[in-house]
Amino acid sequence: MMKASELLELFSAHWSTAILAAGVESNVFALIEDGHSTAEDLARETGMEPRPVRALLDGLTGIGAIDTDDGVRYRNSEAVARFLIAGRPGYLGGFARIVAGDGDGGMRQWSRLSEAFRSGRPVGPQAITTPDNPFWPELAMALQPVTEEVAAAAWDLLPVKDARKVLDVGGGTGAFALVWLRKSAGMTFTQLDWAPMNALALAQLTKSGLSSRFAVVDGDMHETEWEKQNDVVVLSNVLHHEPPEVNAALLSRARAALAPGGILVVSEFALDDTRRAPAFALRFHAGMILQTARGACYQASEIRGWMERAGFDAVRTAPVPPLSTLVWGRAP
Ligand SMILES: C[S@@+](CC[C@H](N)C(=O)[O-])C[C@H]1O[C@@H](n2cnc3c(N)ncnc32)[C@H](O)[C@@H]1O
Repeated sequence: MMKASELLELFSAHWSTAILAAGVESNVFALIEDGHSTAEDLARETGMEPRPVRALLDGLTGIGAIDTDDGVRYRNSEAVARFLIAGRPGYLGGFARIVAGDGDGGMRQWSRLSEAFRSGRPVGPQAITTPDNPFWPELAMALQPVTEEVAAAAWDLLPVKDARKVLDVGGGTGAFALVWLRKSAGMTFTQLDWAPMNALALAQLTKSGLSSRFAVVDGDMHETEWEKQNDVVVLSNVLHHEPPEVNAALLSRARAALAPGGILVVSEFALDDTRRAPAFALRFHAGMILQTARGACYQASEIRGWMERAGFDAVRTAPVPPLSTLVWGRAP
């Protein structure tokens, strides 16, 4: 049985979220990494008063983000040093702005969750499925290191290494392209997404010297023509915005966009068949009620079923870090 103390931890879980976001936004982690390890140092460097600096350091110690042996000098935890110092590869600090902000995915929106459950409607200025929602660039930039890790896992696991032509639908900042184009000199990517996202992706690919093999098509994925004769189609973190019948139609379009023998790769925060795990995906599902008009978090077996009904062969699933599940199949 869950103890009262565990329930109290859950009732205060948003404190931890806020403290972590404040650590990122106050630049304290980067300053500690640079050797500003005491409260006095950090007050001077951040311009904050000593009292809130002490409270921030205690809060960050309470959630395990930093540590101290003497209450005077602080050091970052390994995870903070690895993932929350801006400029380092794999930086996850982009989520701080999202959770602390007023928009989609923020704590203010989450505080209205029971309202969303009652009405069955998203809470917020728009549902995230609205075209050109400013949420997308912010989310996709924050998500990019996560998707890059999934793309690297997909590269190792899936029969995609000989692919020449890849279509990434809802590709966001171009995370799959950034990983796969570096690994294969003979590969080209086309990304279908809304124009602001494509502009961001192009900037990223240009910075990495890969833009000559990366093309974009601006538009809505439901209405825009998809490139044909692809060796691979990628749908990463897209299906959870849409209801089952729309996803079944998207997978049929993916099949029509593949050359014979081509591979469809889906990545999702999917549930297993017990609907008791993974815990992250179970919680993520609540967010789909908050943020989308008809989205949901699906079981990997449901996605597999849609793929099989769309005519894909040899459909397989595999959990991959971080927190994702790959589902892939071959077009006959
Ligand atoms: C959660 S992000 C995922 C980005 C990337 N694939 C990843 O896994 O990191 C969803 C992406 O789908 C795009 N998207 C959502 N609905 C769309 C639609 N109807 N037409 C075109 N793009 C859409 C968004 O602009 C965004 O880039």
